Amino acid sequence: MQASSAPAPAPARTPETQRPVAVTGIQSSGRPHLGNHLGMIRPALALAGRHEVFYFIADAHALTTQRDGEAMRRHTHELAATWLALGVDPRRMTLYRQSDVPEVFELTWVLACHTGKGLLNRAHAYKAASSANHAAGRPADHGINAGAFAYPLLMAADILALGAEVVPVGRDQKQHVEIAREVAAAFNAVHGPLLVSPKVLIDQRVAIIPGLDGRKMSKSHGNTLPVFAEVDELRTLVARIVTDSRPPEAPKDPDTCRLFALYRHLAQPAAVSAMRARYLEGGVSYREVKEELVGLLEAGFGPARIAYRALLADPAELDRVLAAGAERARGRAAPLIERIRDAVGLGAGKTGAAGGLHGGGRGAHPGMGTAGT
Ligand code: ADP
Ligand code: TRP
Repeated sequence: MQASSAPAPAPARTPETQRPVAVTGIQSSGRPHLGNHLGMIRPALALAGRHEVFYFIADAHALTTQRDGEAMRRHTHELAATWLALGVDPRRMTLYRQSDVPEVFELTWVLACHTGKGLLNRAHAYKAASSANHAAGRPADHGINAGAFAYPLLMAADILALGAEVVPVGRDQKQHVEIAREVAAAFNAVHGPLLVSPKVLIDQRVAIIPGLDGRKMSKSHGNTLPVFAEVDELRTLVARIVTDSRPPEAPKDPDTCRLFALYRHLAQPAAVSAMRARYLEGGVSYREVKEELVGLLEAGFGPARIAYRALLADPAELDRVLAAGAERARGRAAPLIERIRDAVGLGAGKTGAAGGLHGGGRGAHPGMGTAGT
């Protein structure tokens, strides 16, 4: 995928801090899990301080699959409590619910009108769904809602509405950020440099965390280790991880073992090296590794789980934190959306068609300004 060489604006840093903005979201489609933590939450929290961070709960994205409104709100609260228990300080960081920021939906439509349908045809998630249909002998678009097809546009709007420079995500989301870059370039080619081109940030140590069944750990696959599960549930889940039937004394391959794939992200480096050696030499039982894994999860997340429980017990307070975060996010998005409305000619044009902050539109260039046709 190639972004065009259209101009991008100077990074829109906040006047107060001059720090670059980082934004990331997580869908409210289930309980947050170890893959979310290692792939995204931990690296995103590490950005706070040097970046101005915006974390949000992507309920509108979850609407592409979630049909139960009550479950949606419950998962939203679980995620808000998770972020807070894992270290979000709402005085210094912004935590909000995507659907509380209407500017994002407005920008989604504007971006949709500057994006070739072909770009969305090439998005991995849509391609996977349509090839699954093909393999099952069904029509290509069977059961795929238009929201799922447009998913990358909503995600581009989440990012571009805040002028984010950095987007910390797990590896599976890389293409979505690339699409956001393409869409920004196409828009800027027509209307001038209004949208900042974001960079993806992926923790290369993590890649994709496998789930209990070896597929990507995902809320939508029911194969997760929820970070705040009680220890009994964790024990039951870890017991479900499938291994081969080698006896304790047999040498084993750490690099194909699903238990080791999780263990190596949780244990200290010296313990990981020692465990690797024991795998290769023989003498470790899978049962022992499972017990160690539960112990590591408990040691890593047990204390924060107490805070999580307390936070979840007060949903009204969680809603207050989210509402205050949405105000901050809107405060950042609204002036940009106003300039975009001016540039494209929607609304009465309060700042005047030629008097926008970036000197108004540039007129359409033939063959430019539609991403990925
Ligand atoms: P899920 O697939 O469980 O619904 P989301 O799509 O809401 O999770 O993803 C939230 C963030 O967590 C994204 O940045 C995503 O890349 C990351 N993530 C999700 N699952 C994994 C995984 N198994 N390994 C690494 N990162 C992951
Ligand atoms: N699509 C992301 C996921 O499923 C969640 C998400 C929505 C997101 N909007 C975003 C991530 C904007 C980063 C930035 O993981």
